[in-house]
Amino acid sequence: MSETKSVIDVCIAGTGSYVPERILSNEELAAKVDTSDEWIVTRTGIKERRIAAEGQFTSHLATNAARKALEQAGLAAEDIELIIVATITPDTPTPATACHVQKALGASKAVAFDISAACSGFLYAMKISKRLISDGAFKNALIIGAEKLSSVTNWSDRSTCVLFGDGAGAAVLRRAEPGEGSIVATEMGTDGSLTHLLEIPGGGTACPITSENVNDNLQTLSMLGKEVFKHAVNRMKEAAEKVIERAGWQPEDIACVIPHQANLRIIDAIADRLAVPNERVFVNLHKYGNTSAAAVAIALDEANRTGVFKRGDKIVLVVFGAGLTWAAAAIEW
Ligand code: COA
Repeated sequence: MSETKSVIDVCIAGTGSYVPERILSNEELAAKVDTSDEWIVTRTGIKERRIAAEGQFTSHLATNAARKALEQAGLAAEDIELIIVATITPDTPTPATACHVQKALGASKAVAFDISAACSGFLYAMKISKRLISDGAFKNALIIGAEKLSSVTNWSDRSTCVLFGDGAGAAVLRRAEPGEGSIVATEMGTDGSLTHLLEIPGGGTACPITSENVNDNLQTLSMLGKEVFKHAVNRMKEAAEKVIERAGWQPEDIACVIPHQANLRIIDAIADRLAVPNERVFVNLHKYGNTSAAAVAIALDEANRTGVFKRGDKIVLVVFGAGLTWAAAAIEW
């Protein structure tokens, strides 16, 4: 699914992110499961991840990130007309985490709902809100990727527990004024024939948690890592190429690629295939691990706030996740 032309251009007016204080290092994990800092760093690039406190929910992480994005955008909570939270770890199955965020922010005029597209959720939310703004339905939108993956991690499975972390990232989207940057092209896709590669099998209607299966870890993430790896590289490369082509850009025009932060080897493979030099690819997964829907949003905010790109620069975001799902966006900042 793709789009290029909009009636009204839409820009990113502000970004924000929040990660919990508690750092869980590879060394600490190695004291709990049969792994090592060396194995985790070599295979993934991850050094440490953040873990939310007990009583700190996904909506709390999301709200903290959102406040920073609003502040940078120079907008008040009452100016926001749409809130989309992308998450696979909602506070509650219903109501949506976005409703909790709306209340916490005092964004009483906003329509608020969640979307579930795993690690691709933030860019799915970007495309949906861009379209709703460019169609004239809303002026200002707040999109958030937020996860408390520590609550769905099997802490005794070394093949997955070393990978994930908690955090949130947010962006404020609004109509662009003449001369401002804009979201130039977007792409998203899904392959539902590969749901089994990465899933939380229990806790839904297909496999409710019962007193009989409560200790089987069915409510935690399970993954066929090697298969996921292969699809991640191919799909992200294709999605990024599509938005670059639709934007009419060449690889050498791109100031910064911000990919999903899951595995450094995946990121290196994509940079190689896109012919974008590694120094133009933003990486922060060594600090946070894979925070699913939050990952690209946190990376966007860190890159923005540390001056990795400047107004007018061409940047590409590209993500991949369970579903399987993938998405990309070409943005003139
Ligand atoms: N520490 C030490 N050894 C580990 C380990 C760990 N944390 N996890 C797995 N191993 C072992 C395995 O048991 C296996 O041992 P064996 O050869 O004796 O059977 C060996 O390491 C290799 O495992 P494998 O799964 O083949 O490793 P890999 O090179 O594929 O790396 C991942 C595993 C998960 C890092 C990698 O597959 C990956 O990153 N996949 C994509 C994950 C991803 O991006 N998911 C999110 C998408 S949104």
